[in-house]
Amino acid sequence: MNVCPADATFPTNFVWGAAAASYQIEGGAHEDGKGLSVWDVFCRKPGAVWHGHSGDVACDHYHRWREDVALMQEMGLHAYRLSISWPRVMPQGTGAVNPQGLAFYDRLVDALLAANVTPYVTLFHWDYPYELYCQGGWLNSASPAWFADYATVVVNALSDRVHHWLTLNEPQVLVNLGHSLGLHAPGDRLDSAQVLRVMVHVLLAHGKAVQAIRAAARGPSAVGYAASPKLCLPASLDPADVEAARQSTFNCGTPRFSGDLGQGTWYEDLVFLKQPPAGLVDFDEAGGPAIGPHDLDLIGQPLDFFAFNLYTAPSVRAGSDGQPEQVPYPAGHPMNALHWPLTPDALYWGALFLWERYHLPIFVTENGLANLDWIARDGRVHDPQRIDYTARCLLGLRRAIAEGVDVRGYFHWSLMDNFEWAEGYKQRFGLLYVDYPTQKRTLKDSAYWYRDVIASNGGMLDA
Ligand code: GCO
Repeated sequence: MNVCPADATFPTNFVWGAAAASYQIEGGAHEDGKGLSVWDVFCRKPGAVWHGHSGDVACDHYHRWREDVALMQEMGLHAYRLSISWPRVMPQGTGAVNPQGLAFYDRLVDALLAANVTPYVTLFHWDYPYELYCQGGWLNSASPAWFADYATVVVNALSDRVHHWLTLNEPQVLVNLGHSLGLHAPGDRLDSAQVLRVMVHVLLAHGKAVQAIRAAARGPSAVGYAASPKLCLPASLDPADVEAARQSTFNCGTPRFSGDLGQGTWYEDLVFLKQPPAGLVDFDEAGGPAIGPHDLDLIGQPLDFFAFNLYTAPSVRAGSDGQPEQVPYPAGHPMNALHWPLTPDALYWGALFLWERYHLPIFVTENGLANLDWIARDGRVHDPQRIDYTARCLLGLRRAIAEGVDVRGYFHWSLMDNFEWAEGYKQRFGLLYVDYPTQKRTLKDSAYWYRDVIASNGGMLDA
């Protein structure tokens, strides 16, 4: 697959960017009045994170942001997706604002704009204020209002210069890994009724934040959130297989509530279609809070684009009984350093299926490759796997564009190697190599390659 019409191109105003997130790169965890986040606390739990790593120092971006912006400029990035640390801005989560925390983002935004890099700001990429967690966190019915108040503070401060906003990053990962499986902060294993409560509050928080952004914005603002769809790929171009993949992509598991809130459709349908997917029929029975028409209105506030993060996707075909069935990977199928199978057609099918269903302009807000890079004897970082996989993914995206999907931009994950949550610093996702002991940055081969991709607006992908 991945056959792209020879004359296909990226649109002239296509946004080429890279992404990162506050807790994964900033460090400065206890500086200038920042409050604790649940990740600061979770990382202290024995066994929670590989080798006991934490984001205390991370890439020290809190101090090295000038150098990092200069490197973005060197790569020719059009845009940078950053996230704001809620407890850096509001140490208690609500109430008092920490001027030094806000000043950090203020300076960063100015520096980005001076370097011709457009900031795309994610309000919440999982570093939740620990003080709010102590008050029940997302279980507390005040939690949506807390988030909206925080959104207002940030938007008041930055919206004269920031015009692209993402409320949340991958809410179902936060809900599922953080509150059901206990593998991410805050590390809770709640029962299904409580998990549903968390889920609904997170969605209401999103809706309230959208309203807050629209109310407080001092300039034009495009608003979305970063979804993480459970995309399935068709095993062949046979229409039955394509339909099986489409169905599996959006299917919420069993028709009865399964307690598996890892499926993005639960969130995406509520947010973009203002209706629960079929799997939610037993929501009440499972102890979920009632979602009234007013809640649906709030959750389904109109958004300006559909943003998604996508790295890999299983293959599905129509089984002999007509039902979709997963096709196992052949032995030796390539995978990344997280053991995620490489599936270069994911962006093609992802863009296509998500466009068909939600019909909003698309941004890919994350895509990339975890690798085990190192500095070679010549002092450079050779990462041909990242270049090859990203090229294949981008060709798939270009094919979707050629077929009429309205794709506006692509953000590579990640700008730099960083703290990969419970995996610590084991794998590297960056275009920039970070030597953590010295904090020296080195542009990997992929960074130079991406610079050329950007400069040619994707033209050099054919080279
Ligand atoms: C996520 C997050 C990122 C990750 C990246 C690689 O998707 O989990 O948005 O913070 O680091 O996706 O796993």
